Amino acid sequence: MCMDTSQMATALSKIMRGNVFTGEPLATYTTMKIGGPACILAVPADIVALQNALRFAAENGLAAYLLGGGSNLLVWDSGVEGLVLRLGEAFLRLDFQGNRVVAGAAVPLPRLVAESIHRGLEGLEALVGIPGTVGGALAMNAGPREADIGSCVHRVKVIGPDLSEGVLSREELSFGYRSSAFQARALIAVEAEIELQEADPAELRARAGTFIEHRRRTQPLEHPSAGSIFKNPPGDAAGRLIDLAGLKGLRRGDAVVSEKHANFIVNLRRARAEDVLNLMIEMHARVLKQFSVSLEPEIKIWGYDETDSLPWATSCQGENPRGVLDGENSDKGGDPASRLG
Ligand code: EPU
Repeated sequence: MCMDTSQMATALSKIMRGNVFTGEPLATYTTMKIGGPACILAVPADIVALQNALRFAAENGLAAYLLGGGSNLLVWDSGVEGLVLRLGEAFLRLDFQGNRVVAGAAVPLPRLVAESIHRGLEGLEALVGIPGTVGGALAMNAGPREADIGSCVHRVKVIGPDLSEGVLSREELSFGYRSSAFQARALIAVEAEIELQEADPAELRARAGTFIEHRRRTQPLEHPSAGSIFKNPPGDAAGRLIDLAGLKGLRRGDAVVSEKHANFIVNLRRARAEDVLNLMIEMHARVLKQFSVSLEPEIKIWGYDETDSLPWATSCQGENPRGVLDGENSDKGGDPASRLG
């Protein structure tokens, strides 16, 4: 239950430039098409508005969550208590100058990738077909290991946990496999300066086509999903292990372990977050039993109160002392800038 939601929303709209909604269903904002309402959903129009919203959340004891493209996210069926933020118009800048591009955190990643290829700029073509926003892609360091977005970053304008603005270089952002300082240090990306190399657009299109073809052939793009559920363990592939454990086709409600790729859970129609989580727990347990590998989720879970009791919770500890993207560390207060996505 959301207490005093409408008063909070009214108060927020007075101090923040942008739109404020109450009870907005989050299922429509996630690629999995699952999830209850956000108590308050705010769309700060610019950086100052975002800072004001985060300050408001801290002062009012509201957990804050930053929503990107909703592609790596499982929102609990009862929704999310607290303040969900979606970056507004000032974060949509896309500005090419020579072989550099400044991309706002809310720019859809497919738009950045397509535009770069079109202009004959090499570096992002392996990210073709990945949904989400530039901010979410930076936080998760999206892309195949050898060609992730982090490798192309020159520097990023960020907001820190103390709400101050700063600019960090690629080195300072510590990009790793599905990890970055955005998660580890609870930073919010505002806009990224990305450095690409000049190349033949036809060649880039051909390379992008190969990546798209691989995804179409190997991933269940025809159904709503959150992409890969678990991170690949070092030296192996989560999909391979889940497949070998015989879990393809395992079903809970309308949530099913994909027959096409075992590290995807697809929503056949009306899957609930609880169905998805039950499948994840079973996948984790069966792979642990058969291969002694403790899979770590790639997706973030919002609105679920008992994150600490999940079987992978201990192996994820220490990754981030302050809180991580998309509320992985549950929504028990803490730093308002700690839940990004
Ligand atoms: N495999 C199986 N059975 C399956 C699925 C995969 O045996 O059901 C085997 C494949 O045969 C292959 C290996 O597992 O030998 C790896 O499979 P794949 O090439 O599909 O790549 P992946 O490691 O499962 C990663 C990323 C994807 C990204 C592809 C690009 C992770 C967790 N996943 O998948 O990213 O699209 O590479 O090739 O790093 C995402 O992060 O959401 C995502 C979709």
